[in-house]
Amino acid sequence: MAHHLRVLRQVPRVQGRTPVSRSKQSPFSHTQFTAASTLATQKSQVRQSTTVAIPQSPGLGLPTRTPAQPSVHLTWPHKGWDDKVVLEVVPSHREPRTLSDRIAWGMDFLTGMPPEPKPGSKKKVTHKAMSESQWLVRFVFLETVAGIPGAVAGGLRHLHSIRRFKLDQGWIKTLLEESYNERMHLLTFLEMYKPGRLMRLMVFATQGVFYNTMFVGYLLSPSFCHRLVGYLEDEAVGTYTKCLEEMDKGRLPQWTDPDFRIPDIAVKYWNMPEGKRTMKDLILYIRADEASHRGVNHTLGNLDQTLDPNPFIEEHADVSHMHLAAIKPAGLEREEVLEKYTR
Ligand SMILES: [Fe+2]
Ligand SMILES: [Fe+2]
Repeated sequence: MAHHLRVLRQVPRVQGRTPVSRSKQSPFSHTQFTAASTLATQKSQVRQSTTVAIPQSPGLGLPTRTPAQPSVHLTWPHKGWDDKVVLEVVPSHREPRTLSDRIAWGMDFLTGMPPEPKPGSKKKVTHKAMSESQWLVRFVFLETVAGIPGAVAGGLRHLHSIRRFKLDQGWIKTLLEESYNERMHLLTFLEMYKPGRLMRLMVFATQGVFYNTMFVGYLLSPSFCHRLVGYLEDEAVGTYTKCLEEMDKGRLPQWTDPDFRIPDIAVKYWNMPEGKRTMKDLILYIRADEASHRGVNHTLGNLDQTLDPNPFIEEHADVSHMHLAAIKPAGLEREEVLEKYTR
C-alpha cells in the first residue's frame, strides 16, 4: 500500500521526461515506472474525456446556452379583476389626521402629476399632453420605484421574525406580493419601451437612494412608511386615471387603434379574457392594482405594527384581498380590522 502511494506521488515528476532519462533517474524499477505511466495516461484520458464529453454529448436534452427570451414563471398568479370593481376605482384622498400623515402626504409630490386646473380657474395648464412614448417613460420609471417598498418592508419583517423567533402576523406575503405585482407592471411596459442609457442610470441612482431611505425609514417608523406608500399609490391611481382620460379623448391614437396588441406577458399574468385585451383594459387592470396597494398600505399604516394581524390574508377575507383593498381608498380602520379579523 505504502509502495503504491509512492508511485502516485511520483506521477507529476515523471511527466515530460523521456523514458530513458526516467529509467536513469527514477528510484523505481521499469515495472513501477510503467505502472505510473499507465496511471498518468489513464488520468489524462479521463481529463480529456471530461472536457470534451459535455459539448459533444448528444441526447442529454439540455439547452447549450440560456435562451434569449426566458419563459414567464408566475410566482404569484394574479387573481384577475372583476369588471365592476375595475370601473369603480377612483382617485381618492385620505385626509391626513396627524403631523406624520401630513409629512407623508407632502412627500407624494415626488411622483404626482400636477392637477388639471378646474373649469373657470385662472391657473394656466401646467402640463402638456403627452405622447404614448412619453407615458411609457413615466410608467417605466415609476414602476421601478414602486417595486421597492414592498420588498424592503417584506424583507425587514422577515428578518424581524427570524431575529425575534416570532410569527409575522401574516404581513410578509402581502408585502412581497405587492412588489411582485409592481414588477409585473414594469415587465409589461418594458415589452413596449426599451430604456436607454440615461434611463438606466436614473433607475440605478434612484434605487440606491430610495431603497436605502426606505430601509432606514422602515426601521424607524414602519407605520409612516405604509402611510407614505398609501399616498404614493393614490398618485399612481391618479396618473393611470389621467392616461385613461387621454385615451378617451383620442389623444393616444396608437393605443386606441383596434390593431394594437398588448404584450402576451400581460394577457398571461392578468388572465385577460378574449375581447378584453385592449390597452385601455390593461391600464384599467393596472390602475385597480394600484388602488389595492393604496388600500392595503393605508390599512397597514393604521395598525399596530407588531401586534395586529394583516386582514388581507385570503382565508380571512370574504373576497379577494385585492378587491377588498381596491374599494377602500382610505384603507380599513384598526377597529374594523380587529373586530372583523381577530374573532
Ligand atoms: Fe404599479
Ligand atoms: Fe402600486
